[in-house]
Amino acid sequence: MKIDILTLFPNMFEGVFTESILKRAQESGKVTIELHDFREYTEDPHLKVDDTSFGGGAGMVLMCQPIVDCLEHIKTDDSKVILLTPSGIPYKQKMAYDLSKEKHLIIICGHYEGFDERILNFVDMEVSIGDYVLTGGEIPAMVLVDSITRLIPGVIREESHIEDSFNDKYLLDYPTYTKPRVYRGMEVPEVLISGDHAKVDKWRYEQALKKTEERRPDLLK
Ligand code: 6GU
Repeated sequence: MKIDILTLFPNMFEGVFTESILKRAQESGKVTIELHDFREYTEDPHLKVDDTSFGGGAGMVLMCQPIVDCLEHIKTDDSKVILLTPSGIPYKQKMAYDLSKEKHLIIICGHYEGFDERILNFVDMEVSIGDYVLTGGEIPAMVLVDSITRLIPGVIREESHIEDSFNDKYLLDYPTYTKPRVYRGMEVPEVLISGDHAKVDKWRYEQALKKTEERRPDLLK
């Protein structure tokens, strides 16, 4: 998969993309990530990418020209263009799965008070990562790239994500334990040491259900 990211702050991605699984996925060629500073595409002599809002208020708004020119430079027939904005549709694991099947993603990071609405004519979907406001789309872009990359076949062991919370079994993860059997007086539940796999499975299911009922009853509907 190819992922292009349009951002005014490419340095923010250093670290996140150069460590651990995202680093390995790129080294193995399973994903290629490219950062584009769309300020480089502005035709403004002072390198402006934003301006005041028609009608007043709302601070500075990203202009169409730099973003659309940058988009047209990298877009192909295989591209899916995603604009990150708090007013987008809510990002969910199902969307990560669907997007992990695409050949080419282009992710646009919004910033400042918003963007010129006409940019939407060049975009396939607007996405938000949750009901809170961030300073820009860079952290959401990292969230999308991380959650999508780990689902690309061969990036991590398949079993690791088949059992993830939020797949479509709608249950949170069951509790897990490792050595030692007693830590500061706290014991590992007896059933996990019993060797009875059917009993272990039943206990894990019950624990996952209990946790989901308590924390996320919305997932059980
Ligand atoms: Cl995609 N952008 C910003 N700025 N804030 C957000 C968001 C996106 N998703 C949730 N909050």
